[in-house]
Amino acid sequence: MYQYLWSYRYTQEELKLVSRMRNFRAKTFLLAVALGLLVLHLCKDFIDHKIIHFPKDVREDHSQIRQHIANNSYVFSWPRCQQNISAANITGFNSLPGDIKDFLYYRHCRHFPMLLDIHDKCGGADRSSEVFLLLVIKSSPVNYDRREVLRKTWAKERLYNGVWIRRIFLSGTMYTGFEKKRLNKLLELEQRDYNDIIQWDFYERFYNLTLKQILFLEWMERNCPNARFLFNGDDDVFANTNNMVEYLQGLKDNDGSKHLFTGHLIQNVGPIRSTGSKYFIPVQVQESDSYPPYCGGGGFLLSAYTALIIYNMSQSITILPIDDVYMGMCLAKARLSPSSHMGVKTAGLSIPSKKLDVYDPCFYKEVLLVHRFMPAQLYLMWHSVNDPNLKCSLTKEIL
Ligand SMILES: *[C@@H]1O[C@H](CO)[C@@H](O)[C@H](O)[C@H]1NC(C)=O
Ligand SMILES: *[C@@H]1O[C@H](CO)[C@@H](O)[C@H](O)[C@H]1NC(C)=O
Ligand SMILES: *[C@@H]1O[C@H](CO)[C@@H](O)[C@H](O)[C@H]1NC(C)=O
Ligand SMILES: *[C@@H]1O[C@H](CO)[C@@H](O)[C@H](O)[C@H]1NC(C)=O
Repeated sequence: MYQYLWSYRYTQEELKLVSRMRNFRAKTFLLAVALGLLVLHLCKDFIDHKIIHFPKDVREDHSQIRQHIANNSYVFSWPRCQQNISAANITGFNSLPGDIKDFLYYRHCRHFPMLLDIHDKCGGADRSSEVFLLLVIKSSPVNYDRREVLRKTWAKERLYNGVWIRRIFLSGTMYTGFEKKRLNKLLELEQRDYNDIIQWDFYERFYNLTLKQILFLEWMERNCPNARFLFNGDDDVFANTNNMVEYLQGLKDNDGSKHLFTGHLIQNVGPIRSTGSKYFIPVQVQESDSYPPYCGGGGFLLSAYTALIIYNMSQSITILPIDDVYMGMCLAKARLSPSSHMGVKTAGLSIPSKKLDVYDPCFYKEVLLVHRFMPAQLYLMWHSVNDPNLKCSLTKEIL
């Protein structure tokens, strides 16, 4: 009886109304929370990463975006590049190695968000003519020990023979999740100490080196267009940068405003078609059986004039994943030739006798570059060749 009365305090209609009101309140609350989160998310993007969103037609017209970057000094993030699914329609796609498939899916991507930048490396675009030799070194995030040694040896930023040498490491990202975060943190710490790293958020892979090269040239046009000369190379070489400065200072009527591209010249070669090779290029990537002349990527010297022309040409040349060959393709399109410099030994030194020490500093004193060196050997060699008491008589003639 009592229970019966209790449950009859509301009519059926009243109960329905109460339940509808509860429903309504819950829905409004959820909607408000969702809206709040959305606003927060949009603001976070805008405040933290300062992402500017462009309408689709603008996104496709890169010159507009480039103009926008030039006019605005804040950090800018490119929209993430989408995989080209139709790449899988290419004949024989399924039988290609994973790396090549991946390359074909992302071949068209040329813009990636920057994680670390150094606008002021050359003192700003206008003052960049004060940089005589810019050392541009490709280095993957894990190569911490190599960077540390280079900073203390041939890549030390310094005034030599009255001109400035500056240094930049170019890096992508590695791994995913915690491991990626940890390596990015390492580069951030290095950046805080040395201010010498440019890092983009693309996956650090052999077949992505051309991308790194093009992204650097784009950076250079923006931040360092008037530097006189560049040394472009790897982080595992012995580069005698003092000799490079002397060689470049000795060039007749070229202060960086004329063509120069020199190194270990490679000619009359073509794509390697065997899948096992590190340099494997299938016909699906390049049909032609020949490469234009180019300089071995371990290290080459070029003028800022030539660097900017290469950048200009690169914008209308499909990416080939071998970075040094790609430079050759850009030169060929501009009708410029790479030249050979005897001092650049990207294939290593050939020491004439087994009885001689391959690390005798006298072999290295006169060269511009030797590939390849481990950090400890590099550290030793740099000090030995710069030792004022070093006496070389015979060895020089042997080479
Ligand atoms: C490529 O393949 C997709 C499906 O995988 C198909 O929709 C598309 O039409 C193909 N494109 C060409 C050009 O064959
Ligand atoms: C995607 O790949 C196909 C097949 O190689 C190619 O024809 C097309 O131009 C590519 N699209 C882009 C945006 O690069
Ligand atoms: C190059 O980097 C992009 C972006 O991280 C990635 O999607 C792509 O797979 C990489 N290419 C290769 C060949 O690894
Ligand atoms: C390349 O240089 C030419 C001649 O100076 C210029 O007209 C053209 O706009 C440049 N192209 C790009 C993509 O910068």
